[in-house]
Amino acid sequence: MPKRLREVVALLRAPDASALFAEAQEVRDGVFGREVFQRGVVEFSNHCRKNCRYCGLRKGNAHLPRYSMDCQAIVQAADCAVRMGMGTVVLQSGEESALDIRRVGRIISKIKRLGDVAVTLCLGEHGEDDYRYWRDCGADRYLLKMETFHAGVHRHCRPGQTGRTRLGKVRLLQRLGYETGSGLITGLPGMTPEILANDLLALSQLSLDMIAVGPFVPHPQTPLGDSAAGSLEESLRATALLRVLNPKANIPATSALDALTPKGRELGLSVGANVVMPSVTPESVRGEYFLYPGKNDSSVPVVNTIRRLQQRLREAGYHPSSARGVSPAYCA
Ligand code: 5AD
Ligand code: SF4
Repeated sequence: MPKRLREVVALLRAPDASALFAEAQEVRDGVFGREVFQRGVVEFSNHCRKNCRYCGLRKGNAHLPRYSMDCQAIVQAADCAVRMGMGTVVLQSGEESALDIRRVGRIISKIKRLGDVAVTLCLGEHGEDDYRYWRDCGADRYLLKMETFHAGVHRHCRPGQTGRTRLGKVRLLQRLGYETGSGLITGLPGMTPEILANDLLALSQLSLDMIAVGPFVPHPQTPLGDSAAGSLEESLRATALLRVLNPKANIPATSALDALTPKGRELGLSVGANVVMPSVTPESVRGEYFLYPGKNDSSVPVVNTIRRLQQRLREAGYHPSSARGVSPAYCA
């Protein structure tokens, strides 16, 4: 095993990670201070053509009522995000087979006219022409998580899909000039500390602008519903390692952390994360963007959820920022 890999495995396995967490925090404070960038996520459709075995939106989940927001509702949700102080709007959906590429383009252009706001797309795997078209329409960033680089775990959890194809798409997005993000799920069934360590190093070699890592949360209506959840501690260590390995990348405290524990986001920020990505999907449908349990509480109005999150950030000693929050890795 290469030395670097051995060191990362040792940090994932060590009895105590307080020194790693302190270092990650220090690196984050050095680059971003106490500023936390806010991205409002509009989850505009929960249709998906894929069948990832961990995900509630998988095609095979017949229990999930499907929705698709119309153009006006999407722009309205984005407008709400901007008014609530988000410097970035993220357009997210399942990987729709019938996605209307032009319609997405029109939505991007409309959102860009709302103010000084960046647009991030998180729409899965598409062709080069589509990615280029959306970039021409004004999209700034694209998020496409690798989930894992390990061929066996990837094949098992994402039937019919390969890490190699996905990696090709990540590289394509970088070539097209997107601020590009990727990431991992920790604790997927079959993962070991060695596999995770390798994933962390492989991800860090991509010179990404954004990196997201969150724990696996079992969803009862999926084939992996009976598997154990990823460990919170391991996911925090993965976040801290990614911060140390990628000082300038934007790293969110993911909602999957919040799904495992009430103070999950604060914990993520305390180990090097510098971004939060609250859902701004309207209450009428947000409960149906049900990736995993604990995601998207539809009983609380969006505005209140965001205010509460901003309050939580201030109480934890952070400054919720309205800046677009371009990654200094992208600027460099
Ligand atoms: N646990 C954790 N993360 C999940 N995702 C989907 N299902 C789960 C789950 N059960 C994440 C994946 C995907 C994003 C849409 O949600 O990382 O990229
Ligand atoms: Fe679809 Fe993404 Fe869920 Fe896979 S992880 S089923 S591609 S929404």
